[in-house]
Amino acid sequence: MQVTGRAHFRALDDATPSDWALMSAAEKADRARRTTGDRLLDLLASMRDADSLGCPINLYAHSVQTATRVLRAGEDDELVVVALFHDLPEALSDNHHGLVAAELLSPWISERRTWLLVQHVAFQQYHFVTDPSADRHARDRFIGHPFYAETAHFCEFYDQNSFDAAYPSQPLQDFVPIVRRFFDRPRPALKSLPGLNRIDPSP
Ligand SMILES: [Fe+2]
Ligand SMILES: [Fe+2]
Repeated sequence: MQVTGRAHFRALDDATPSDWALMSAAEKADRARRTTGDRLLDLLASMRDADSLGCPINLYAHSVQTATRVLRAGEDDELVVVALFHDLPEALSDNHHGLVAAELLSPWISERRTWLLVQHVAFQQYHFVTDPSADRHARDRFIGHPFYAETAHFCEFYDQNSFDAAYPSQPLQDFVPIVRRFFDRPRPALKSLPGLNRIDPSP
């Protein structure tokens, strides 16, 4: 259902109760029509021809390759979605891209995959074997953490190895039904930033 009409205030101070009701209904209808998953898919698709910035493949191809490996390993839809969008904020933000990705997806995903998204940045450094500026042992402070093993596995087998220009990734179109069914539910309650802050992204 599309909500028509628009409010005419010039400052929020002047908005009326019916303005707020109109905007709320319009936003709700729009989110029912295009989920967070649809929006992120559109954003990822727009990066298809982006420069690779010196990498063997660009961020789009890396993202799709990572998600393809997750899918072919038989992992669940949540991890496929996480893989598809895990680096998307690198194209948008100079800030910690794992934390930004976690913020985008946290209402929809489990605590362990939220943690994985935030901390994959530290765990990935383990694979920067010949980069003298990387701290390969940034992940060590999480040894014993219940989510350590899955995050290390994600980085080793799905992420750090997904820069292969010859890898036969599945087309983005193949992920559309997975993303659609994952987000096909009422939006869960929003999680607050303090909840993510407790995860502490700094290495
Ligand atoms: Fe990353
Ligand atoms: Fe990555």
